[in-house]
Amino acid sequence: MANPVVTRAEVLEVAPEGAYHRLVLRAPEAAPRVRPGHFATLALGETSALLLRRAFAVLRADPAAGTLELVVAERGAGTRELVRTPVGATLSLIAPLGTPFPLPDGPVTALLVADGHGSAPLFALAERILERGGQVGFLLGAADAPGLYGVDRARALTRDVLVVTEDGSAGLAGHVTGPLAQAIEAIDADVVHACGPEPMLAAVTAAAAGHGLRCWTAVQTPMACGTGICMTCVLPVVGADGVSRFVRTCTEGPVFDGGRVRWADIGTVPDDLAGAAGMGGQL
Ligand SMILES: Cc1cc2nc3c(=O)[nH]c(=O)nc-3n(C[C@H](O)[C@H](O)[C@H](O)COP(=O)(O)OP(=O)(O)OC[C@H]3O[C@@H](n4cnc5c(N)ncnc54)[C@H](O)[C@@H]3O)c2cc1C
Ligand code: FES
Repeated sequence: MANPVVTRAEVLEVAPEGAYHRLVLRAPEAAPRVRPGHFATLALGETSALLLRRAFAVLRADPAAGTLELVVAERGAGTRELVRTPVGATLSLIAPLGTPFPLPDGPVTALLVADGHGSAPLFALAERILERGGQVGFLLGAADAPGLYGVDRARALTRDVLVVTEDGSAGLAGHVTGPLAQAIEAIDADVVHACGPEPMLAAVTAAAAGHGLRCWTAVQTPMACGTGICMTCVLPVVGADGVSRFVRTCTEGPVFDGGRVRWADIGTVPDDLAGAAGMGGQL
């Protein structure tokens, strides 16, 4: 769990980046605390539709400048409001939240896999791995070319960047799981890190396991409080003791060892889950 601050963050920049917007926020107390994989939540209005804070992975934290950068896909009322926030306005921000990616002690070769804006937390992770003498490769996917985020950012970090789109409008045609084995073998990866929708994370975890590799997955499970209170964000996860429990993605996650998440049981209450006996199998 992070050591978050609640603060008013000034909007310094809102810039379109392809189909997304990149936001730069002044948050000098939060910035030094952020590690790759942490997320932030923003309060975006006072109407009932905007009551809940919205969660965003931190793209970049710059402690010297006292800034946080986020990448935002316009989806519903909250993100529509957010990308239209004028420069100079302030937003209520809580950051950093969640448990970040584990960082290796020494050099490792990591394959970083993302769907769409799922790449946001992976660039800072790549920088930390490179600083430790390791190597990275990226496998970036999306439904179509506009849905890709950060291909140029990835290419600035490594020449091992593979792009895949479902409609074939950029890179290879298909899902990220298609060329996954090829990407693992191309860089001789020791570990995989992935961020995106749950079915994709399940498939990437399984493919990594097929190569004997651990896959750290950053989930983006819809969440309400973001701070561990409401239990709306839970996933069934097998603990180190072998016992399955519901685990909060906002505090114990969003980063999990993908091999411990019971992907096929998400949305159900498995009968063997600690404390779940007799709940009838449905959430
Ligand atoms: C840990 C985490 C990291 C995320 N990182 C990013 C990111 O870097 N960039 C980005 O664009 N989006 C990210 N998301 C998704 C983002 O939070 C949702 O797109 C956003 O909350 C939608 O809000 P809305 O008001 O526009 O849409 P609405 O559909 O009106 O949202 C209604 C409610 O559903 C929740 N919700 C809806 N869709 C999602 C979703 N896909 N994931 C989580 N909650 C959802 C919202 O929090 C809100 O409470 C992340 C989500 C999580 C949990
Ligand atoms: S969102 Fe409330 S406990 Fe996770």
